[in-house]
Amino acid sequence: MNIRTFLQQKVREAMSSAEIPEAFGAHVTPSKNPKFGDYQANGAMAAAKSMQTKPRELAQKICDNLLLDGIAKQIEIAGPGFINIHLDHTWIANTLYHASLDKKLGVTTKEQPDTVVIDYSSPNLAKEMHVGHLRSTIIGDATARILSFIGDSVIRQNHVGDWGTQFGMLIAELSDQLGEGCSAEFALKDLEKFYQQSKKRFDDDSTFSDRARDYVVKLQSGDAEVLTLWQRFRDVSLSHSGDIYRLLNVTLKPEDIRGESAYNDDLEVLVNALEKTGLAKEDEGALVIFLDELADKEGNPSPVIVQKKDGGYLYATTDLAAIRFRANALKATRIQYFIDDRQSLHMKQVFTVARKAGFVENNVRLEHCAFGKMLGKDGKPFKTRTGGTVKLAELLDEAVEKAVTVVKEKNPQLNSEQVAEIARKVGIGAVKYADLSITRTNDYVFDWDAMLSFEGNTGPYLQYAFTRIASIFRKAEQDLQRFDASIELNEPQEIALALKLLKFSEVLEQVAEDAYPHVLCNYLYELASLFMRFYEACPILKTEVAEADKLSRLQLSKATAQTIRLGLDLLGIEVMERM
Ligand code: ARG
Repeated sequence: MNIRTFLQQKVREAMSSAEIPEAFGAHVTPSKNPKFGDYQANGAMAAAKSMQTKPRELAQKICDNLLLDGIAKQIEIAGPGFINIHLDHTWIANTLYHASLDKKLGVTTKEQPDTVVIDYSSPNLAKEMHVGHLRSTIIGDATARILSFIGDSVIRQNHVGDWGTQFGMLIAELSDQLGEGCSAEFALKDLEKFYQQSKKRFDDDSTFSDRARDYVVKLQSGDAEVLTLWQRFRDVSLSHSGDIYRLLNVTLKPEDIRGESAYNDDLEVLVNALEKTGLAKEDEGALVIFLDELADKEGNPSPVIVQKKDGGYLYATTDLAAIRFRANALKATRIQYFIDDRQSLHMKQVFTVARKAGFVENNVRLEHCAFGKMLGKDGKPFKTRTGGTVKLAELLDEAVEKAVTVVKEKNPQLNSEQVAEIARKVGIGAVKYADLSITRTNDYVFDWDAMLSFEGNTGPYLQYAFTRIASIFRKAEQDLQRFDASIELNEPQEIALALKLLKFSEVLEQVAEDAYPHVLCNYLYELASLFMRFYEACPILKTEVAEADKLSRLQLSKATAQTIRLGLDLLGIEVMERM
């Protein structure tokens, strides 16, 4: 259950009984300080102001009508008219107990689910995936998991760059290498090298560049032979990114791929439509849409070129076709783009044109979920030691390798198979968590030591918190999954932990609304820290602990472990029983 929403409804009902117009909300928020209760309703002040009554008197009227018997143990008015609600501990205990029996841990699912199209990862297939794609892939995937968990119908769209003039030179190169008897897999084993090689030939050798240009024309006109070569290239490149998704524990599947090439046939139709409505105008031979909405400081409208002088289409044209497809064919009610913040003008242009052209209704939410750069410890863009781009595959291998050392150090008793399995989860989890735990709109500093540390707000810290609870259950000779005991809350640390656990639903709701997964990370970190405090203050397995306390505390521990596991799972991070 989402307690904030529940109290919100209760207070609003009381406001209606007190004859306060519907327009005034209850404004229930969690209290920052337990002195002021667990939740506060702050709606009385605004209502009183416009009803021209005294806020404290109005707050009193609300309280008189507030039906929270057995739910709140105390309700009081504070300051100018805040209503402080102190929840009843037995009610907290029972609510938490019931949540812990539920597969979804009591998280409320949306009554009116959205159809959300999430555009993420979307690498260019001409090159190997590099660190630039990491953030989009990780943050987009966590959001997709969270939205679908709370009941939205999520359509993942991997808008891969699989079209454009550079494919001419790549196909020419591939054709040559296949002619020499090389297999496509072998030729494209190192995509990066392959790209450099064909680029060099394109620049240095005019017969080659002529052929490359000829291939582009043939590709666009649907020449069967050239299309087959293109398909070969595309398949091998996609299998590289598929490997990365698997290693990264990312939910993108081949059926989620709808690349730029998928919109080819639609571009001409689209541009014609834009021209007919008068939105696109000819300008120096090109077709351009001028947007006053996005004019610069001098008042010059922002130009969006949809067709070049030579007839070619652009990145924006394809994105317009994609957004129209998403709204019309996929019936999206919300469309999210996880793309770095350097493309924010591009996204604004696409959104504005899509609205003006009537491709997307006003009630469909369009969101550019932007994120900042990945920096090295020196504060400069993250690069290899020699200054090159870091390949994602190599970065992830290094993460697992480093985790092997860390895991072995922590627990020398593990056999090599266990070490490998745990290190994979720890290494990948650390990379993902480091990215997810900072506000996505900020740049973030990639730092191996910090992310692999068992202290602080890190992936390993949370995985370790889970294993600690698992080990308590092993010592107690109890099964964590099946354990079932009622909860009784007496100590302040028990109450604080229980209240935090009950906020899980609220946190997920917020993350689903704003697409800021770091809010979930912060929550899990605070939860794990509260658990450690509880565990220090409230012994569980010591002989002097009364049986009822022991069982209740085990149930609290179980609820914590379940929440950490589910929370991490929604971030795309795995846990383990021991480490
Ligand atoms: N392929 C692009 C790149 O690597 C990202 C595409 C993002 N999605 C979109 N619909 N434009 O920069």
